[in-house]
Amino acid sequence: MFDIQQTKANTHSRRIRMPEVNPTEAGKKLVHPALRAPRIFADTATFSDIEPLFKAGIINGVTTNPTLMKKAGAKNWDDVQEISKRICKLLYPNPVSLELTELSFDKMVEQADMLASWAENVVVKVPVGGYEAIDPSLDPYTGLKVVRALWEKDIRTNCTLIFNSTQAFWAANAGATYISPFLGRLADYAYKNDRVERTSGNSLYWIEDHKNVNNDQNVFNTEFVAAGGDRKDIGSRLINEISVLFTNYDIHTEILAASFRNFAQVSECLLAGADILTVPAPLLQKVADHPLTDAGMTSFVEDSKVFNKVESAAMA
Ligand code: E4P
Repeated sequence: MFDIQQTKANTHSRRIRMPEVNPTEAGKKLVHPALRAPRIFADTATFSDIEPLFKAGIINGVTTNPTLMKKAGAKNWDDVQEISKRICKLLYPNPVSLELTELSFDKMVEQADMLASWAENVVVKVPVGGYEAIDPSLDPYTGLKVVRALWEKDIRTNCTLIFNSTQAFWAANAGATYISPFLGRLADYAYKNDRVERTSGNSLYWIEDHKNVNNDQNVFNTEFVAAGGDRKDIGSRLINEISVLFTNYDIHTEILAASFRNFAQVSECLLAGADILTVPAPLLQKVADHPLTDAGMTSFVEDSKVFNKVESAAMA
């Protein structure tokens, strides 16, 4: 079984080559203390959510998908283009992921060219698989082939809908700039289907009969995929596993942890070695909040009124 300690020795050499999120200007005495902090992206296409988060320095990128575009009000491709260009302009040069909606290789590459032409900071989001689920006649390797073709054309990709480390590995191998493991959806699935007497995640990683708990679906993973380990949250175990894998082979595809539901998953992911976290706006809007912070501030502000009074009297 993998061990979180395995990541420590080599992670730094891998991450040192990642773009720095808080660079320090030459000649400045106070070096920024978080030079290789993971970046935080907003997982939304809604401009009114993105703008204040970006202006506050909370985010360094945006990820979207067709569902988020629809939520942002897009009703056709002209709307998608308008929304995307507006976000890209605000965020430039930070990356903005826009997802492909075509399902065949040629059309996907053509659509990717179109998306990439909208702005220099566009990253093309490519579903890793699922093509046969839409239409059994489709090529199961379409996503990986598109990632490879876009790498050859120098177009950055974010390979999405990743649920195990084998998908992550092949996406990286195809040339993906980022991979997006959906840890919240994994946790949701496990919450609904796990057997309580077993380790968390057993509905996905149970190997005895290669069926899930409802006995209606094959389980495709081996016991070595995010099974075991000391992390309770199945999603962060997956992030940890991919981080070990990428560190072992010096793979520089960035791990863009996605599909967050709560702050516990955010903290777990930071500990697990994610390079980037894409977080929904409602969570990001609360990053500075805590009920005890509110209580503490209320009493500090109240007590400081005494000094303020003395100061205004002295100034009078
Ligand atoms: C990732 O890039 C996806 O847009 C997103 O995180 C999916 O999250 P959901 O499971 O909340 O839909």
